[in-house]
Amino acid sequence: MAGSFLTEQELSSEQLFEIFDRIKVLKHDMKQGKPLDVLRNKVIGILFEKPSTRTRTSFESAILRLGGSAIYLPVADLQINRGEPIEDTGRMFGSYLDALVARVFEQQTVEDLSRYSGIPVINGLSDVVHPTQAVCDIFTVLEVKGQVKGLKLAYIGDGNNVCHSLLMICALAGMHMTVACPKSYRPDPEIFAKAERIAARTGSQLAILESPEKASVGAHILYTDVWVSMGEEEEEKTKLEIFQGYQINGDLLKVAAKDAHVMHCLPAHRGLEITNEVIEGPRSIVWQQAENKMYGAAGILDHFVSS
Ligand code: CP
Ligand code: NVA
Repeated sequence: MAGSFLTEQELSSEQLFEIFDRIKVLKHDMKQGKPLDVLRNKVIGILFEKPSTRTRTSFESAILRLGGSAIYLPVADLQINRGEPIEDTGRMFGSYLDALVARVFEQQTVEDLSRYSGIPVINGLSDVVHPTQAVCDIFTVLEVKGQVKGLKLAYIGDGNNVCHSLLMICALAGMHMTVACPKSYRPDPEIFAKAERIAARTGSQLAILESPEKASVGAHILYTDVWVSMGEEEEEKTKLEIFQGYQINGDLLKVAAKDAHVMHCLPAHRGLEITNEVIEGPRSIVWQQAENKMYGAAGILDHFVSS
């Protein structure tokens, strides 16, 4: 189904599980080195306003492996950087490209790029959401645990873009999610309310607490992200103080389920939101999670761009 993937609202639970199925098949085929032509003759732009190691490389690699072509478009090299309106840029991209993967500051930028280009736009992170990350992550949970419905994910840290997307994708997948965060860094109430409406249909239970220990009791997955996101550098000093204690460490793992696994979307700051011992330890599935970003990108491109 061709279309944009700007927030998780473009997905139903059924479509999410169809994407998981496609990711599994594509991962198998890509690992076998099977020639794939899912994106044959497709030219896909990769427009990034912010740095990226994983999202950019995994999408570019997935595009090439699926038989398409990718053009990297760092915003510093575009006329947008000199004031050309997004609307005009979007119109041009609509003529030159078959789809666009975009990482932006403001969510409105991907909305405008989609509207004015008329081509599928995949949100590779905005200040509000990181939908491709959450799809790849919950696919990883499915792969590791064999199921997702009824499992509990405890998210420890900032109620940020990654947290928002996990709330929505957990709700769609029927997974429970408890967020532990300082009072002043709770997830956006509107996004939480949207996720709760979905959760009411799928049987997922969502909650927000302050205590990382309480949130982690019985959790099957402990998940964290950076305390200071891209674009928040000015808040760094304050956030580093407020988030002390919001760390995944050996003690927190003790209150989680016996077979709990640990996830982090990366980049990680060892000694801050996660200890070195835990990220490198036997409960960490962080590297499998990161690897799956490429297969997840393939499944997402197949769903939103190929047909
Ligand atoms: N997790 C993630 O999006 O990583 P990058 O910032 O390296 O793309
Ligand atoms: N919340 C982080 C995610 C990085 C992948 C950020 O926006 O910088």
